[in-house]
Amino acid sequence: MKPSLVHCFKLLLLLALGGVTMHVPDADVLSSLGALRLDGHFSFHDVSAMARDFGNRCSLLPAAVLHSGSVSDIAATVKHVFLMGERSPLTIAARGHGHSLMGQSQAAGGIIVKMESLQGERTKVHDDGTSPFVDAPGGELWINVLRETLKYGLAPKSWTDYLHLTVGGTLSNAGVSGQAFRHGPQVSNVHQLEIVTGRGDVLTCSPEENSDLFYAALGGLGQFGIITRAKIALEPAPKMVRWIRVLYSDFASFTEDQEKLIMAENTFDYIEGFVIINRTGILNNWRTSFKPQDPVQASHFQSDGRVLYCLELTMNFNTDEADIMEQVSQLFSLCIKILTCDLTDVTYVEFLDRVHTSEVKLRAQGLWEVPHPWLNLLVPRSTIHKFAKEVFGKILKDSNNGPILLYPVNRSKWDKRTSVVIPDEEIFYLVGFLSSAPALSGHGSVEHAMNLNNQIVEFCEEADIGMKQYLAPYTTQQQWKAHFGARWETFERRKHTYDPLAILAPGQRIFPKASLPLSL
Ligand SMILES: Cc1cc2nc3c(=O)[nH]c(=O)nc-3n(C[C@H](O)[C@H](O)[C@H](O)COP(=O)(O)OP(=O)(O)OC[C@H]3O[C@@H](n4cnc5c(N)ncnc54)[C@H](O)[C@@H]3O)c2cc1C
Ligand SMILES: *[C@@H]1O[C@H](CO)[C@@H](O)[C@H](O)[C@H]1NC(C)=O
Ligand SMILES: *[C@@H]1O[C@H](CO)[C@@H](O)[C@H](O)[C@H]1NC(C)=O
Repeated sequence: MKPSLVHCFKLLLLLALGGVTMHVPDADVLSSLGALRLDGHFSFHDVSAMARDFGNRCSLLPAAVLHSGSVSDIAATVKHVFLMGERSPLTIAARGHGHSLMGQSQAAGGIIVKMESLQGERTKVHDDGTSPFVDAPGGELWINVLRETLKYGLAPKSWTDYLHLTVGGTLSNAGVSGQAFRHGPQVSNVHQLEIVTGRGDVLTCSPEENSDLFYAALGGLGQFGIITRAKIALEPAPKMVRWIRVLYSDFASFTEDQEKLIMAENTFDYIEGFVIINRTGILNNWRTSFKPQDPVQASHFQSDGRVLYCLELTMNFNTDEADIMEQVSQLFSLCIKILTCDLTDVTYVEFLDRVHTSEVKLRAQGLWEVPHPWLNLLVPRSTIHKFAKEVFGKILKDSNNGPILLYPVNRSKWDKRTSVVIPDEEIFYLVGFLSSAPALSGHGSVEHAMNLNNQIVEFCEEADIGMKQYLAPYTTQQQWKAHFGARWETFERRKHTYDPLAILAPGQRIFPKASLPLSL
């Protein structure tokens, strides 16, 4: 067995021990699906492409794929499965772009709803002059949303680092990037959702209408319904960005500056940071669209044997860069102990789509479709120094297998009513260990990366770091209960309300189907 499949196998075993049998539905069930009157269609062969994801470590074969032609196709399918009742083993997973890490968008023996097939539904921009928004299909890629809104000189405010992800997929998690310190995560920038619940009902929801479902679905890990449309806040789009990288040799000044900058007035438009451990040629990684203007300065960005910290910033401008020079130097006067600094000017789209530029290069080298044992943590500010001291240079001796992101956000921008789980502190850091594992054994293997990830997680538990995982790959309800803490009751109540048979998003492994006491 491939080592990458071992974890997945253990999972199946766990499900089996938990008394859940994972049988493939019988022919009658499948033909009843085939008999539904739809705008799109089901396919039953060639389902293996839906048993893959970006994580590349888990592969669960579905029984059928719905190529939905309309929202009512999705509603009819969910309703059909709902009416089969609790004894049917059928589950349904919406699949955005399949960029999950551990099978979250898969459904063993179930139905995959291919959300991208809804892209034909239009993306509509509404510009009333005061609070413009875009109304986008749930399966739309963010890059396409951006292209459409730019036609009106507008763009969404809050992003992820990578735009080839779907609207419904990131809104089911949180959607965090370097704009979140100011605008909050993507889930804080939504006006309205259209959702197909686990009962097959199509509901419109917003802070004013069906608000419980609205907040449940945001960060809801696909547990309460399938997001078929979203209205997302827009702002005027800049033409250009000045993209700046600033290097530090000590963690304290790096984080002190990050925190100062996210608090400052008229500050940068994007603030992230990353950690470079004993790495040669760091510019030669998957974030390579950054092309420094000064190669001598750039050579400082290597880190043989050292731990360095790189603050990454952007300032938007339109055509005349002189607009922003004064502002940038004023902000830099706040900063301490900068080792070196480099910058480049790119268009707004080039900046936002930067990871895709690297994807194209990695694909060409066969290094994109490899296992990705990623670990994403939200670490409170009060323990981030303790965390850094143990992890950077001690548990982790290099960062050659992928970038390590680290940047602070302010909790006040995160709506407490959503399902997103965050640490209980005003400022917390997003820390992402984005490893690739191209090798079958040794350094660069899944086993090696998982061993390090486990050490980090264990340290956090022992040292009471108070961290929460983002995109958490938990496999038991016990773990999920601990993750949600005091919020578990609300999460569970909402599940009973909107998906009482636990049909939806089984790959999150929170509620095994038919394990819920009946409350119909
Ligand atoms: C290269 C890369 C960079 C990334 N960078 C960031 C980042 O900067 N910030 C960040 O926050 N995340 C980031 N992510 C993680 C990303 O948010 C997740 O991969 C997420 O799962 C979105 O991917 P997707 O649209 O393909 O959804 P999928 O992986 O297909 O689905 C994710 C989950 O949501 C469910 N789902 C999908 N569509 C819907 C829908 N319409 N309605 C309800 N449930 C649905 C699925 O069943 C599944 O459980 C990154 C991922 C990659 C691969
Ligand atoms: C966080 O945001 C709140 C509300 O805007 C603000 O009062 C506070 O100063 C911010 N904290 C930091 C450390 O930036
Ligand atoms: C840096 O990495 C090299 C091999 O890549 C290793 O030999 C060396 O010990 C590492 N240095 C530190 C300080 O970890």
